[in-house]
Formats: sequence, C-alpha cells, structure tokens
Amino acid sequence: MAGLRKDFLWGGAVAANQLEGGFQDGGKGLSVADVMAAGANGVEREITDGIVAGKNYPNHEAIDFYHRYKDDVKLFADLGLNCFRTSIAWTRIFPNGDETEPNEAGLQFYDDLFDELHKYGIEPVITLSHFEMPYHLVKTYGGWRSRKLIDFYVRYATTVFKRFKGKVHYWMTFNEINNQTGLNKFALFTNSGILVRPDEDAAEVMYQAGHYEVVASALAVQIGHEIDPTNQIGCMVAMGPTYPATTDPKDALKAMREMQRNYWFADVQVKGKYPSWLVQYQKDHFNLDITLEDLDVLKEGTVDYIGFSYYASHVVKASENEPVSYVDPLHTKGVANDKLERSDWGWEIDPIGLRVALNWFAERYDKPMFIVENGLGAIDTPDAAGHVHDPYRIDYLKKHIEQMKLAVEVDGVDLMGYTPWGFIDLVSAGTGQMDKRYGMIYVDKNDAGEGSLERSKKDSFYWYRNVIKTNGEEL
Ligand code: BG6
Repeated sequence: MAGLRKDFLWGGAVAANQLEGGFQDGGKGLSVADVMAAGANGVEREITDGIVAGKNYPNHEAIDFYHRYKDDVKLFADLGLNCFRTSIAWTRIFPNGDETEPNEAGLQFYDDLFDELHKYGIEPVITLSHFEMPYHLVKTYGGWRSRKLIDFYVRYATTVFKRFKGKVHYWMTFNEINNQTGLNKFALFTNSGILVRPDEDAAEVMYQAGHYEVVASALAVQIGHEIDPTNQIGCMVAMGPTYPATTDPKDALKAMREMQRNYWFADVQVKGKYPSWLVQYQKDHFNLDITLEDLDVLKEGTVDYIGFSYYASHVVKASENEPVSYVDPLHTKGVANDKLERSDWGWEIDPIGLRVALNWFAERYDKPMFIVENGLGAIDTPDAAGHVHDPYRIDYLKKHIEQMKLAVEVDGVDLMGYTPWGFIDLVSAGTGQMDKRYGMIYVDKNDAGEGSLERSKKDSFYWYRNVIKTNGEEL
C-alpha cells in the first residue's frame, strides 16, 4: 500500500478568536465572538447586546497568543508541524468591517506571525472567516441578511490575498459554513451574525444569508486565483455522516435528505450550482434575492479542495408528521447511536464515520480533501508534577488516523492533510470553556479564567510528534 502523500500536510488547527486574545490590541474591532459570554457543559453561551460589565467573555484574553505567538510557534516547530491552520481575525484588518482602508497594525501582526511560521518551515493554512465577523456589521447591517456584506467581505479577502501573497498558499473562505442549516441560534450568530427576530422565518433568513455567503466565497475564490494562481482555496464544512435509525425506508429518505440539507453549501461551492432539490424547495417556500448574475459568479468561483471538520456522526429517524419535502430541521429527530461511546460533552465517537465521510465526499465531488479539524474535547488533570497524561486523546486520534489511512490506502481517496483541532488548548467555541480541552499542549488556565497561561507538553504531544515524523506509519 502506498501510504500517505510524501508532502502530506500534518498540522494543527485553531481560530484567531479562540486563542489570540488581545481583543482590543492593535486597533482591533469587536467581533461576534467578543459578545459571547462563557457557558458551561450543557449550558448555552449568552449572546449579549455589546459588552456588558460583569460578564465573563473568555475570548477577550483567550490564551494570549497575540502576545506569546513567538514562543508558541517554537513549540509548534518542536511538535514537528509542517502546517498551522488559523484564521485571520477580520476585525484586526477591518475593525468595523465597512471601512475602505485596512488597519495596518492588524496586517502587520499577521505578517509577523506568517514570517515566524516560515522561519520553521511551517505553512500557514488560513480561514478568512471563522466565527468572528465584525460586530458592527451585525448591528448596522443585520449581518449577512444584507447583500452589502458581499462587498465588505470581498474587500477584506482581496486585501489579505494581496498582502500575504507568497506567504500563504492555502485558504478557506468560511469556517463550517453549513452549521447554520440546523437553524440554531449559536450557528446563525457565529456563521452569519444573525439573531432571528420573532417576525422572521429562520429558514428564509438562513437561505438568504447563505446565498450571499456562497456568492462572496465564489468571488473570493476568483480574486484569490487572479492575485496568485498558485493559491489553493477551499470551502470548509462541518461533516458528520447521518445514518438512518432503522431499515424503514422513511428513515433512509430522511437520512439522505439530512445529508443533502447539511451539504448544499459544499454542493454550491464545489460544483458551482445549487442542487435541484434545493432549487425546487426554495422556489416553493421563499422569495429569495438570487440573481442570474449571482448564479454566474457561483459557476466561476468553485473551490480547489474540500476542507472539513469531523468530530462525530449522527443518526436520524423520520418524524410522524414529516413534511413531504423531508427538509425541515425542526422535524428532525436525532437518535442516540447505541453502538458508539460519547465524549463527556455527549459527542458520539465514531472513527469509521471519518472513512465514510471521506468516501462520501470523494464520490460526490471528486476533489482533493483536507481534514482541517478532528479531536476529542476532554477534561485533563495534571499530575503532581504538572504533567498531563492523556491516553484517551491519543486513543481517539489514533483510531481516526487509522480510518483516514484506510480511506487513502484502500479506498484511494485524495487527501492533502490532517490538522487536529485545538492542538494547543484554547477557548471552546460552543461552550466558551477552557476546561474542554483538545490540546496536545496544555495551557494553564481554567473555566474561571484562573491560571498562569503557561504551556506544557502532554503525552499526546510526544505521540503526535512521532506520527508526523513517520508520516503516519507509527501510530
Ligand atoms: C468546530 C469549530 O465547530 O468545532 C471550532 O470550527 C470549535 O471553532 C470546534 O472550537 C470544537 O467545538 P467546541 O464547541 O468543542 O469548541
């Protein structure tokens, strides 16, 4: 068997808002992440109207990467990474989002960070928008409800493509753009800066915002290629294969529809057009602003690769009163999978699901893939000497990498790389916790915000270092 590519991208993934901190340094503006207070395991994060005194906003300081990045990058080099996935905080470049001129201090920060990475042979992999759009765009324009956002995003993307030409070759346009298809509050806010009003239909708002986003993404892809034809620009979707709960054909139809409903964003970004079921569904239910010119833009701006996150699979059962379209997520009944174990946060652990996902994407799109997030959120308890032994994390990653290799070596899928999520402990997006840890590098800070912020290597650090060194041969 051939094994993984010789130039396989072994890395680690983070997002600016979850690790940088320095939320007002260097002229940075407020982002949506800055108005999300901490939640807890099973407790939603509160989205506040601006910053409210006395609330705990964990992203404001995060792990202070903004001031410590040089030491951190040294640690990443020690881990042996050949790539590092992070995002550019849009609000460092355009603090409000609608300025005509960028903020030089923000651009300089990323110039310095990328130089530091290259010093150690680490390739930056950059997400343009990772749950951190400018809050001003939410307050002033209603977030991605407004077509104007396309221009603001394109200006931002053009600015960073030009500035970092030659320093960044791998890009993704929007992180987990498809989270919002479930219509939940957190996802609509983090993806699109939208809090649905009582007089609005959440689905209509999402399909409209999603349309503007795919147009913005397609324009960014075109511009990114014009500025530097060697740029590789991907989409980024959250992938969790959906299995039918029973052999009832209705459950099979429901599971299939769930996959279609969850991945239409990727359909549009990869194939350059809406899938037929969705064209029909939108026509039957909504009155959306989708122009013929937009449809041409989509055709011309297809992505080079499929970036995706993988944490868990899902099981669905058709409900008694399923609409004839089988589309409405409010009629989607998730069912526990009795064959799988769960993390402490209830995420089902399904390594084989990763192989399923890779095969599903390969068949549907026939494009290179990049696993840009995967990992286990867990509580780590340092021993008396302050060291974290995390065999559970090693076990999780090992089993997923095994399946990833089977997909490559046995099924022949085209895989560019693997960047486990939160390889340095950071703020959880979903709960705002620090104690929900994914890292191979421990950061001394807890949910209450206490700790020295000192970094130390967990057992998984040494394990992953050897995985990288042997190009995945020794797990
Ligand atoms: C993905 C996001 O949803 O999963 C990350 O792209 C996020 O931003 C990660 O942190 C893990 O989720 P959580 O809620 O455990 O932080």
